[in-house]
Amino acid sequence: MRGILYPLHVGMLGLGVVGGGVYRILTERADHVAARMDRPVRLVSILVRNPSKPRSVSVEPGLLTDDPRKVLDDPSIAVVIEALGGEYPAVDYLRRALEHGKCVITANKEVMAKHGPELLALAAQNGVDIAFEASVGGGIPLIGPFRQDLAPNRILGIQAILNGTTNYILTRMSEDGSSFADALQEAQRLGYAEPDPTNDVDGIDAAYKLAILSTLAFQAPVRPEDIYTEGIRHLAAKDLRYAQEMGYRLKLLCVARDGAEGVQARVHPALLSRQHPLAQVDGVFNAVLVRGDLVGDVLFYGRGAGAEPTGSAMVADLIALGQGLTNGGGPLSPVHLSEARPLVPMDAVQSRYYLRMEVDDRPGAVAQIARILGNAGISIASVMQKEVGSAAGSAEMVIMTHPAAEGVMRKAKRGMAALSVVREIGGFLRVE
Ligand SMILES: NC(=O)c1ccc[n+]([C@@H]2O[C@H](COP(=O)([O-])OP(=O)(O)OC[C@H]3O[C@@H](n4cnc5c(N)ncnc54)[C@H](OP(=O)(O)O)[C@@H]3O)[C@@H](O)[C@H]2O)c1
Repeated sequence: MRGILYPLHVGMLGLGVVGGGVYRILTERADHVAARMDRPVRLVSILVRNPSKPRSVSVEPGLLTDDPRKVLDDPSIAVVIEALGGEYPAVDYLRRALEHGKCVITANKEVMAKHGPELLALAAQNGVDIAFEASVGGGIPLIGPFRQDLAPNRILGIQAILNGTTNYILTRMSEDGSSFADALQEAQRLGYAEPDPTNDVDGIDAAYKLAILSTLAFQAPVRPEDIYTEGIRHLAAKDLRYAQEMGYRLKLLCVARDGAEGVQARVHPALLSRQHPLAQVDGVFNAVLVRGDLVGDVLFYGRGAGAEPTGSAMVADLIALGQGLTNGGGPLSPVHLSEARPLVPMDAVQSRYYLRMEVDDRPGAVAQIARILGNAGISIASVMQKEVGSAAGSAEMVIMTHPAAEGVMRKAKRGMAALSVVREIGGFLRVE
């Protein structure tokens, strides 16, 4: 016969989109969660900025507070769920919760990308854990697999689409021929993009998530500033159309690889062959392709954001932590990070390239361009004249190259841009 099951006391930081999702799951599925965890959950306090603001969830009076001490300093609270967002004060609150011996669950990719290694060490020092499944890919299981299921592998590489907003914008540009500005406006109207879309469209959000995944994958810190980051603002609808015609799809791709020379980590738009598993990932969906030396390729796919998927990931973390606490276990699956590995500079990364340029429509123009590429040791895979250029006497052409180092390619690009026959290099994309 089982003894009395004491409720697990939980505090929450934030009751917005994600916090509201967690709250709904914990209240509407209380019995289900209790059964999975072997004990019920009791929500003790929820920190918000403004307790009197109208909310989409109806919360018991007295539960909301604007005083962080009610969550962080209450000795009865064993687990703190953080869904505030932003670096500060969130990171300070998480440190304080861990120092007070509380387990922490967070959806905060910025905090985990910038401070994850330090917070993991602090959790271990205090005999507790920090769970962050919701910080990458919303409801898609990723952190759990990296911490546990893929553990025997050496992870060779990750290719991923980790930002639903930009994937939605690129899908619209590709399917409807919309401009970047129009597709962004539509994403904002549908609630897929923030009023200030900077973090998404400039690749910052994707770089935070790649930092978290590659740190776990390579068991060594990879920080956001280690990641070459380029967004999608500069993309023209015609590049997506040409890509499609040539059998490619254009995606904001996250890439991390571990090789003999070190770790390379980058976020930038890239052409993917139509057969690539990530080429079919459209709209707001996310996907992560992981290559392990034992498992080979593993593909994760799903909704990367939203109250329910993200809430599902956080409550799953709560169930796992709650089971550990009930059974007297310590931290779940410890993360042991080694020293940071050497980084491969972007200039040394090898890739094929797509170049769209407007040139004088006269004999010898292509030969001059081919000479610059040839002198740099870059061989041309194909040259296509697409249509007449925007100005009289000009032609638009697309060149695809064989692999070259980024630094060499950039130098050749400067050389081509300086030719009098080249009017503009409007598209410069990597092909994965
Ligand atoms: N939205 C998603 O789909 C999604 C998916 C995955 C991960 N995430 C991550 O989840 C976190 C939360 O995102 P969200 O979309 O839920 O944000 P949100 O809707 O803006 O909610 C933030 C909540 O935190 C409270 N808050 C913020 N700063 C505070 C402070 N200094 N003191 C007290 N309370 C404060 C707000 O209080 P008030 O309600 O009083 O304003 C609000 O309840 C972020 O780290 C985000 O990156 C979000």
